[in-house]
Amino acid sequence: MLPQDRHADRIESLIGQMTLEEKAGQLNQEPSTVDVPLDMVEKGLVGSLICANSAYAGTDRQARVRAAALNELQRVAVERSRLGIPLLFARDVIHGHRTVGPIPLGQAASFWPEGVRRLAEIAAQEARADGIHWTFTPMLDIARDPRWGRIAEGFGEDPHLASVMAEQVVRGFQDAGLHSGKGMAACAKHYVAYGTAEGGRDYNTGEVTPTTLENVYLPPFKAAARAGVATVMAAFIEFDGRPATANPDLLNGILRRRWGWDGVIVSDWNAVAELVNHGVAADLAQAAELALLAGVDIDMAGGAYWRHLPDLVRSGRVPVEVLDAAVRRVLRLKAACGLFDDPYTPEDAAIVEIPDEHRRAARALAHRSIVLLKNQGGILPLRPGLRIGLVGPLANPQAKETFFGTWTLDGEEEDMTDLLSAMRAHAAPREVWHALLPDEAVAQARLCDVVVAVVGEWRHRSGEDNSTTTLDLPPGQTELLQYLGRIGTPLVAVVVAGRSLAVEPVLEAADAVLFAFHPGLEAGPAIADVLMGDAEPGGRLPVTFPRSLGQVPIYYNRKNTGRPVPNFRYRYVDRPDSPQFPFGFGLGYTTFEYSDLEVEVDRDGLRARVTVTNTGQRDGEEVVQLYLRDDVASLSRPIKELKAFQRVAIPAGRSLRVKLSVPRQAMGFFDGEGRLHLEPGTFTVWVGPNSEEGLQTQFRFDG
Ligand code: NOJ
Repeated sequence: MLPQDRHADRIESLIGQMTLEEKAGQLNQEPSTVDVPLDMVEKGLVGSLICANSAYAGTDRQARVRAAALNELQRVAVERSRLGIPLLFARDVIHGHRTVGPIPLGQAASFWPEGVRRLAEIAAQEARADGIHWTFTPMLDIARDPRWGRIAEGFGEDPHLASVMAEQVVRGFQDAGLHSGKGMAACAKHYVAYGTAEGGRDYNTGEVTPTTLENVYLPPFKAAARAGVATVMAAFIEFDGRPATANPDLLNGILRRRWGWDGVIVSDWNAVAELVNHGVAADLAQAAELALLAGVDIDMAGGAYWRHLPDLVRSGRVPVEVLDAAVRRVLRLKAACGLFDDPYTPEDAAIVEIPDEHRRAARALAHRSIVLLKNQGGILPLRPGLRIGLVGPLANPQAKETFFGTWTLDGEEEDMTDLLSAMRAHAAPREVWHALLPDEAVAQARLCDVVVAVVGEWRHRSGEDNSTTTLDLPPGQTELLQYLGRIGTPLVAVVVAGRSLAVEPVLEAADAVLFAFHPGLEAGPAIADVLMGDAEPGGRLPVTFPRSLGQVPIYYNRKNTGRPVPNFRYRYVDRPDSPQFPFGFGLGYTTFEYSDLEVEVDRDGLRARVTVTNTGQRDGEEVVQLYLRDDVASLSRPIKELKAFQRVAIPAGRSLRVKLSVPRQAMGFFDGEGRLHLEPGTFTVWVGPNSEEGLQTQFRFDG
């Protein structure tokens, strides 16, 4: 029996004994581990703690958390509060804990669900050993605008890819059991459509139509709900005049009633209080009323619930049953996390040294998150015997921490190997020189056989509240590449970033270009492996790369419109409307050919088979992608949508028959009321290496 069911009677008995203040306290999440209001904990006015010192935890330095310190706080709740209800400890364990993996956008680039899940399992195990019960991941916001810094935190632009990863992250964090000491409660955030923030400006208002909401923004959350995600976070955003935090249709309506999901909904940081700023609540009391009635159970760091819910119930503005239902959900979560069995964390379980297996998992994921965009003349991998000049601002060993990416709260710089050391470790018989300053880099470039220039974004240029008005490299970097490119020594550019960038000038300057979404702890060794050929650059783009900012928003699963290509090929007078690189694109160190596409369709859905042949000299991995188009439907449908993919390893010269299937439900689409349409008619299917290439055929589906 699950702990939450085993403790059902105790939960009811606690609810029966609690004062209104204590009930509101269970719904109050206080920030910080340092200045915790212990008097409030003693009075039962705190239900959970977010172990972060500021609202910008992803960008600020954070104090470490330790089981011993959290146990101390727990003792106050358990031993000194009237009912002894344990605290729930939360922290943003986003893309790893001590073992920091690639940022989620890089994880998406891996198209490797198993690797993503393993990273989540490792994060859960490490963070739980530090005393943390609950993490605020996965972030499932579909993002079509790379100006938005938070694109780094999500799985890109595609609802299917994001849904697959959503399930894996939830299972990775939770499936070991929230009470097992190895699992943690996950949180699907930010519900919903936060990625629509206009102009890519974080927290801005969004515009989203009902059908886009249903078909693009909701599906990853539905996947997380189906995987049993324990909690969901309401987004900061408002659209259609309604902030998500106070939107009963989204929270109680879609999540709870339509999907039958019964977990805990938490607000984002201070978002309940911010309903006043949105202009939908006159004061903090009304903000608390709107949020609770909409379905928000926990008020994160906003102070509205504990201050106002008791009086709101006494005055009849909030029915006590609504308060009780929220408290019940929170207590069930605590029980599920094992807190009613043992509220303390063993103090000797935290990892001291990162286990090799954890490093290997992070490194394998990093290899598969790095995307090869150009490789003229097969310059990569670098041949043995070359004298390599390693230059560029992000090659600075002192800057290695930047490879962690945004939202690294518990990664330790000392655990990292910088790229220069990693390359030198691989280097025999290659020689690796390093120059820090641009002038030295130029001098060195004249003397060595190949230049590797590492450029891109430092980690705090992406993530929360780090929107940009440009997709160019930071100042000076393009010029450096252009200068180096003119010298005549072959140039490899490694671009490390938290978003897609407009890389045209990089492609013009460099002979080979690797794009690495901040790869985490193992960045140095992983990039070195890829440069030297010990690993494939296995990533495929999880977002469309624009030619320039002016094309944004640009995404592959757009509508055909009434004036599609080819008659109106160039919709811009100054640029083609095609992207720089399509969604799903990525080269490798070998080549693949597709042949013999066969499809079968019946009441269960679609099954496709295709032969993929490794036509190159090296063993390699391919991400086989299946896209569908519903040719004629009652509502216009995208020109194509990813419906299945599979990463396969194929030895040089060998072929593999790859099978991909699409369940019947996924052949349909939703209308604005969330009704699934499975409409008979012809469909087009493409199977290939990215969203623009591949074999194509048509079939009939009977609905
Ligand atoms: C604000 C962010 O929007 C959210 O993603 C995060 O989990 C919370 N702060 C807590 O740090």
